Amino acid sequence: MSPTLTLFHAPASPFVRKVMVLLHETGQLDKVRLQAASLSPVSPDAGVNACNPAGKIPCLRLADGQALYDSRVIAEYLDQQHAGEPLVPREGPQRWQRLALAALADAVMDAAVLSRYETFVRPEQKRWDDWLQGQQQKIERALEHFEGEAFAALNERFDIVAIGLACALGYFDFRRPDWAWRERYPKLAAWYAEAARRPSLQATQPA
Ligand code: BEZ
Repeated sequence: MSPTLTLFHAPASPFVRKVMVLLHETGQLDKVRLQAASLSPVSPDAGVNACNPAGKIPCLRLADGQALYDSRVIAEYLDQQHAGEPLVPREGPQRWQRLALAALADAVMDAAVLSRYETFVRPEQKRWDDWLQGQQQKIERALEHFEGEAFAALNERFDIVAIGLACALGYFDFRRPDWAWRERYPKLAAWYAEAARRPSLQATQPA
């Protein structure tokens, strides 16, 4: 089958990785052609801007030209295009629990990417340490939640929650190994050691 969807893609982005892992897990990789995107908040990509006016990846262009963004909308769309068990429950209280936890995993990714931009893209003399600390606290609160009361829910199955958190933890290892998150979150470390062996995560390591 030739691909009918175009995904704007950068291998370093944890949000793009989330979509790629979902494509692997649901057997839909062959539907998608990857379009390389190179961007930061100060160097936009014209192709991405044409797909998503917010200038962010991932953006998925459907066969009829319709553009889907952001990663949550793309994930929801792709999850409705395969015959296997949905990665987001379609109804009931479970749907809202999983969507809320998936949003928390996205917030971790968001804070990590914003911190990366603040330390890597922003000139050193303009950096705002209090703001960076606020992002770090957001990450720590969310990881405490996953390590504690949400751990059983995370561990239930490899669904949209697990995909999001695995991509966030993989991004820490890629960009901020100095954060040493495993020392503070041993249950998440053990969970991730197992999850990271999945072919979908092996095949999508950030670069
Ligand atoms: C990164 O290089 O860390 C990155 C690239 C694209 C999107 C998000 C993060």
